[in-house]
Amino acid sequence: MKVAVFSSKPYDNTHLTTVNENTHELFFIEAPLNEQTAILSKGFDAVCGFVNDTLNATVINTLKDNGIKLIAMRCAGFNNVDLAAAEAAGILVTRVPEYSPFAVAEHAVALLLALNRNIHRAYNRVRENNYSLHGLIGFDLHGKTVGVIGTGKIGLAFIKIMLGFGCRVICADPYPNPDVEATDAEYVSLETLWAQSDIISLHCPLLPSTRHIVNSNSIHQMKDHVTLINTSRGALIDTRAVIDGLKSGKIGNLGLDVYEEEADLFFENNSNEILRDDQLARLLSFLNVIVTGHQAFFTKEALTAIANVTINNITGFEKNDLESICIVKAQ
Ligand code: NAI
Repeated sequence: MKVAVFSSKPYDNTHLTTVNENTHELFFIEAPLNEQTAILSKGFDAVCGFVNDTLNATVINTLKDNGIKLIAMRCAGFNNVDLAAAEAAGILVTRVPEYSPFAVAEHAVALLLALNRNIHRAYNRVRENNYSLHGLIGFDLHGKTVGVIGTGKIGLAFIKIMLGFGCRVICADPYPNPDVEATDAEYVSLETLWAQSDIISLHCPLLPSTRHIVNSNSIHQMKDHVTLINTSRGALIDTRAVIDGLKSGKIGNLGLDVYEEEADLFFENNSNEILRDDQLARLLSFLNVIVTGHQAFFTKEALTAIANVTINNITGFEKNDLESICIVKAQ
């Protein structure tokens, strides 16, 4: 199959090309897939997209007109794909449901530990010959209550790590996971989770029901100085409400790997440009906030797994072996 790989970076090229072994004709396009670039799909059989590509109805109709039969997403989330429009256009959508839940869970823990022990501040101080401990006081994770929202593959991996630290883990999910129920973690209502957690980590998908799940109302119910970690999707958090929570001291630490308005910023080197996003600039001005640029997935193991499943999805589609591929359907 002839595949246009959008939003491609050198690391995508390397991993996909290695796994592909010349099975498909892969064309790497640096530009994101959106209304301006969808036209580039002409002459291809499939497009391969990533987290910040726009696959709305307009884009999908252009893909259909250009003869695209498959949208092979090389990520787990598919909130950026209009599945109903794809179905109406007769275009199949596949994704990589699981590549390394450990990569994301471990990054959430990295953000938590860095924030709690002020590693980012200590790193800068020591480089300036400043060994003062003033302001660097943290807290033991042992014995703290950790609230986990979304207990799928990543949530489960995160829960197991936090239990290993000696934390009490409480979690919320409309569909409890038997593997989580088999641990010492306890399912509670969202209200109880907000009220009792010292640390809250988000591991649910972005859906209409989870959009801004962290908002002024939920922040109001949280403990004072709560630590909030989001490695899932930016729009789970109402950024303005979180900024207010940081200003008032209600939120003690914030670790973000994803950001509501990340689409035009993340994955690119914008260091020669002025940061025009005032909300992000405000977030970056807090000493108790760490933002990483959607890198939680970014391990060797995860990139190899992503390439394997993506190529397998394309091959399975070509051979009409739909049982062997990871199809996403409109609900
Ligand atoms: P999963 O599908 O295994 O688990 C998601 C869980 O969220 C499910 O158990 C589901 O029942 C639950 N959920 C759905 N609605 C909910 C609600 N209203 N409240 C609480 N829980 C709810 O997904 P997985 O693999 O664990 O990934 C979770 C999310 O992590 C993805 O949707 C994606 O947005 C994000 N992600 C981020 C990456 C990064 O690099 N930062 C990489 C990969 C995934």
